[in-house]
Amino acid sequence: MSEPRKILVTSALPYANGSIHLGHMVEYIQTDMWVRFQKHRGNQCTYVCADDAHGSAIMLRAEKEGITPEQLIANVQVEHSTDFADFLVEFDNFHSTHSQENRELSSQIYLKLRDAGHISQRSVTQYFDPDKQMFLADRFIKGTCPKCAAEDQYGDNCEKCGATYAPTELKNPKSAISGATPVLRDSQHFFFKLPDFQDMLKAWTRSGTLQDAVANKLAEWLDSGLQEWDISRDAPYFGFEIPGEPGKYFYVWLDAPIGYMASFKNLCARRPELDFDAYWGKDSTAELYHFIGKDIINFHALFWPAMLEGAGSRKPTAVNVHGYLTVNGQKMSKSRGTFVKARTYLDHLSPEYLRYYYASKLGRGVDDMDLNLDDFVQKVNSDLVGKVVNIASRCAGFIHKGNAGVMVAENAAPELTDAFLAAAPSIAEAYEARDFARAMREIMALADRANAFIAEKAPWALAKQEGKQAEVQAVCALGVNLFRQLVIFLKPVLPKLAADAEAFLNVAPLTWDDHKTLLANHGLNPFQALMSRIDPVKVQAMVDASREDLEASQAAAAPAGNGELTKDPLSPEIEFDAFAAVDLRVALIVKAEQVEGADKLLRLTLDIGDEQRNVFSGIKSAYPNPAELEGRLTMMIANLKPRKMRFGISEGMVMAAGPGGEEIYLLSPDSGAKPGQRIK
Ligand code: MSP
Ligand code: ZN
Repeated sequence: MSEPRKILVTSALPYANGSIHLGHMVEYIQTDMWVRFQKHRGNQCTYVCADDAHGSAIMLRAEKEGITPEQLIANVQVEHSTDFADFLVEFDNFHSTHSQENRELSSQIYLKLRDAGHISQRSVTQYFDPDKQMFLADRFIKGTCPKCAAEDQYGDNCEKCGATYAPTELKNPKSAISGATPVLRDSQHFFFKLPDFQDMLKAWTRSGTLQDAVANKLAEWLDSGLQEWDISRDAPYFGFEIPGEPGKYFYVWLDAPIGYMASFKNLCARRPELDFDAYWGKDSTAELYHFIGKDIINFHALFWPAMLEGAGSRKPTAVNVHGYLTVNGQKMSKSRGTFVKARTYLDHLSPEYLRYYYASKLGRGVDDMDLNLDDFVQKVNSDLVGKVVNIASRCAGFIHKGNAGVMVAENAAPELTDAFLAAAPSIAEAYEARDFARAMREIMALADRANAFIAEKAPWALAKQEGKQAEVQAVCALGVNLFRQLVIFLKPVLPKLAADAEAFLNVAPLTWDDHKTLLANHGLNPFQALMSRIDPVKVQAMVDASREDLEASQAAAAPAGNGELTKDPLSPEIEFDAFAAVDLRVALIVKAEQVEGADKLLRLTLDIGDEQRNVFSGIKSAYPNPAELEGRLTMMIANLKPRKMRFGISEGMVMAAGPGGEEIYLLSPDSGAKPGQRIK
């Protein structure tokens, strides 16, 4: 036998500021299947991942939830790990980029790059939020599109007309965090000199490391010349401070890929057979694969190999890129209920259904992949339940009834077992090439042949005839053997089905090479249903639950009138004191008017007994005719810190529920309540 290969595999590190959804799962399921295949084949394969814990988005979300970033990322890490485990994604290690190993490795790599002359610095002018006292990333600036005048567009591109621009070109720019008008400020930034690696990258991207479509895309950038990459951010920032540069932090994308190394290093500490340098050193003979989505190609196929080269480390063997998930032919949509969180799926359906469906659709390409929910039900039911599991359930009973559960040694159709044996190399090749769709097609073609054989022999009919018992046993023993072969081939995709089948077959955990043998004179355990059909009602329930998820999160965000930073439906518990600190009052809407230049806001004048308040509320979409609100009672938060907005100062917040748009419902007390009364 040849030496087992040493393989290190990664999936992109999910951001620690949100939940895992079925789009993410395309990547983690795909990688897991490939890793399981390698392990199944006896290779020394290690699969590491981590949460991507740094950046201003995480800092701001933690602030909003009133917890520290460390608390936030700890909570999310538990959530992510459980989601992945329940989808049968089996990492050797799931670490965090906010770790000691990553801090050390990031410093080391940076210092090596700096000492080799690959870091430059210069001053950069950027928008600064004077209220929050922080520089604003493009996505935290909103304003009017300089091309088409659409309002409320992000700092780098317009969703309405598709124009891209610099944030300084936006008209009427506002900080999406505080609402303040940003000012321009200079600051010293550090740059990684990517152009130093232009030639290396031109060769590396064309050396079989990337799919052709990806290499072609990168050639466009490489040919037009690479730019230096800004790797620093100013405080406040949640990340690692740059060694020797107080107040300057590594940009999250600098330390994120180093997180792959850090997770592996953390694992090495408890796995003596793994040697860090044997995998990451310049002369490493181990293979290194990164699985990523098409949105993060430049980070993995340009910046990362250049960093590794510059720091004297090895480069990836390959970067495997996949496309985006669509559901029912369209982008995942919260309002259609097709933006499905991993947990919501798991609440309704078994993980192996999705693993199989994704496998059946995943090729080597970077095309987007569609999860068509009707097709999903149909395919899983027909292939897994109708074809694979069915073979075992049809045959097991006869072996238990007619031969005390023992499979006879006779091979009823050697041509069939030969065909299965002959098909194995091609299936293995398809897995190796990540052409899961082809592997599944070839396996299902074998399942069709097994079913045709059993249907033709019809053991249920034979069993009723005199003197056919031996034939029944031979046919059914073969049926179970063929089922066992199929399970071996499917094990990387369906590890739980395989474990259950191993229990029924009464065998040790199956490895790939076990397909070369057959069970003979072998006692089976009682057959237990291995997989049930998908009930379409459950799929609908999952879609409905996803829609409700959205409604819950929007209701929490609607009164803020700021749709872009939505909260999770389940906020952390608060102490009674925190609740008691909120001054809730009955308020009379004295006046409700349009606000010139604002497409979401109404200006409300509220009477709370002994004073009047001016409040801007993002409820215009539901109350296009604001005068109808005048004279009505509602509830307000009266002790909210006044907020300076583009149109004036907002002195509180009114309370409303609903998913947004036309469906926003202002809350009202029963009649009899008086303005100014405290709500308790
Ligand atoms: N944190 C970065 C990756 C850092 S790697 C050093 C990131 N995180 S992510 O959570 O946004 O995405 C994680 C992975 O999931 C990425 O590879 C991304 O392409 C993939 N996907 C996220 N949404 C997806 C779909 N809708 N469809 C398919 N893959 C998707 O990017
Ligand atoms: Zn525009």
